[in-house]
Amino acid sequence: MIDHYQEQTLGQPGFSRADFGENFMWGTSTAAYQIEGAHEAEGKGPSIWDVFSGKRGKVKQNHNGNLACDFFNRYSDDLALVQSLAIPNFRFSLSWARLLPEGRGRANPAGVSYYNRLIDHCLELNITPWITLYHWDLPHELEKKGGWANRDILGWFQEYAALCVKLFGDRVKHWMVLNEPMVFTGAGYFLGVHAPGRRGFGSFIPAVHHAALCQAEGGRTIREFLPDAEVGTTFSCSHIEPLRPLEKDMKAAVRVDALLNRLFLEPSLGLGYPLQDLKFMRRIEKYMQAGDEEKLMFDFDFIGVQNYTREVVKYAFWTPFVQANLVPPKKRNVPYTLMNWEVYPEAIYHILQKFSHYKGIKKLIVTENGAAFADTLQDGKVHDPERVEFLQRYLAQVLRAKQDGAKVHGYFVWSLVDNFEWAEGYDPRFGLVHVDFDTQQRTVKSSGYWYRNFLSKR
Ligand code: BGC
Repeated sequence: MIDHYQEQTLGQPGFSRADFGENFMWGTSTAAYQIEGAHEAEGKGPSIWDVFSGKRGKVKQNHNGNLACDFFNRYSDDLALVQSLAIPNFRFSLSWARLLPEGRGRANPAGVSYYNRLIDHCLELNITPWITLYHWDLPHELEKKGGWANRDILGWFQEYAALCVKLFGDRVKHWMVLNEPMVFTGAGYFLGVHAPGRRGFGSFIPAVHHAALCQAEGGRTIREFLPDAEVGTTFSCSHIEPLRPLEKDMKAAVRVDALLNRLFLEPSLGLGYPLQDLKFMRRIEKYMQAGDEEKLMFDFDFIGVQNYTREVVKYAFWTPFVQANLVPPKKRNVPYTLMNWEVYPEAIYHILQKFSHYKGIKKLIVTENGAAFADTLQDGKVHDPERVEFLQRYLAQVLRAKQDGAKVHGYFVWSLVDNFEWAEGYDPRFGLVHVDFDTQQRTVKSSGYWYRNFLSKR
C-alpha cells in the first residue's frame, strides 16, 4: 500500500512545525466504535451503539459500525499509514464491551490480546499511543441497568479504568478519561439522537452528574496505578457569540457557553457546576451526595480541547430551559462544512485563550480538530483542497494563540481515516485517508500528504 504513495506538491502555510516548538505534540485521533468494526468478534459484548444503530431510522441510511473501517483486522496496515505520514502520536479509544463484555466482571482475553497487539505495534513503529477510556460505547449490559443515569456507574467505571491501567499502563503513558461528556450526555440522554436514545431531563441531569464524577474518579484511578502517567480528559468546545449586540442575545450566549463549554470543566477545577448561569440545571443538586463536590475535582495534567466551529446564539423564548437557539451558518451566509458547521478558524484561538485563563488548567492539547467534506476518489487520488486550507487556517490560529500565551502543547487531527460519523453514518468524511467502504481500500488524501510534509519539515 505504501508503495503507491504519490508525492504531491501542496501549498505550505507561512509557518512551520518548528514555530510550535520542539516539544509540541502532533497526532491524529480516532475512536473504537467509529473504526474497529468486528462488533461481535471474539467475545465482544454489544455496546449501546451496536444496539442503537441496529434500530431503524436512528442513523442516516441505517448505517452502523458493524464493519466500519475494519480496523480490528487492519490495524497493522493503518498504523503503517500513520508512520508513513510522519505522525508521531496516535489517539484511539478502548471498547469497554470488548474488554468487559458484561461491562464488569471477567475480562475477555481476546479483547485484551487485541489491545496488547495494537499498543505493541504502535511502539514497534515508534508511534506513541494515547488512550481514551470512554468514547461513547457503553456496554449494553450496563445501559440495561440504567447506564449513565445510574449512580452505580461510579463503581463500574472505576473497575473498568483500573483494569485498563493495570493491563496497558506499563506501555501507555498518555491517558484521557472521557471523550466529550457534554455530547454523550446531551445527545444520548437528553435529545435522544445518539445512543442510547434517551430523552428528557430525568435521564440527562443524573447522567451529567455521574459522568462528571466518573471523569474525576477515572483520573484518580489512573494516577493511583500510574503516578507518572499524563492524565487528561477531553471536552467539546465551541466558541460562542451572540447574534446581535442585544442584552437578551448576550445573556443567551452566556447560557449556551455555560452549557457547552463550562458544565463539565468547572466542577473538575473545584469551581462547581456553573449554576449561576444555568438556572435550569439546578435540579442537579438533587443528585449530589455529601462529599460530591470534592469527588468532582481532579487535577488533570492536561485538558483536551476539541474544537470544530463557533456557534452564534439568539434569544428564543420558546426554546425550553436554555431559551436560546443556534443560528445555522446557512442563515448567516458564511462558509460551512458537510456537518453544517461554520468554518471559523478564529474559534480555536478564542477557545484556547478562554481555557488558558483558568488557573487550574496546566496544559491544553487540541485532541481533535478537522472537517468533513464530500471527498471523491478520482483516478486513484483524493484531492481535498478545502481540508488542507481548513487545517492550515486553524493551525495558524493555534500558533497565534500559543504566541499570545495560551497553554497549548499539542494538536491532533480528527481523523486518521474516514469513519462512522455517529448518527450521520458514513457520508461525512473526516479522514486524512480516504476509505472505500465497499472494498476497505485506503487512499491518502492531499490533506494527508500535506500533514506529512508539514510534520517532516522541521
Ligand atoms: C467526536 C468524534 C466525532 C467528531 C466529528 C467529536 O465530537 O469526539 O467522535 O467524530 O467530533 O463529529
